[in-house]
Amino acid sequence: MPRNHILHRICSSEKIKDNTFQLFTVDDTDIVVGRRNGKLFAFNNSCPHRGASLSKGELKEDNIVCYMHGYEFNVFTGKLENMKSWKKQDTWLEQNPEWRKAGDLVLYPVSEKNGSIFVDI
Ligand code: FES
Repeated sequence: MPRNHILHRICSSEKIKDNTFQLFTVDDTDIVVGRRNGKLFAFNNSCPHRGASLSKGELKEDNIVCYMHGYEFNVFTGKLENMKSWKKQDTWLEQNPEWRKAGDLVLYPVSEKNGSIFVDI
């Protein structure tokens, strides 16, 4: 059965400064909401690779860089853009390639109206 989306007021507009993001919990879902060059974005806090908290990462241009293994996901398209090289030492053995796989970010529609920011989840 399809789930109904609900518009949630997250915070006042001034709380999300340009080129910053913050973590919010809405209906038990952790959501990262931020602004990059004036444009809002919102995505699920769980890294599509192994579930690390993306709010502990950092913005690098349009990408959020996961602090755990350095994967980079575009905050607007959700796409995996970059995977760090895992070969840290010559003696380091390649892990199962399955382990490297990651999906894309779960994005949420985000909007701004009358000085407030809303996320549709
Ligand atoms: S858990 Fe985020 S890159 Fe591995």
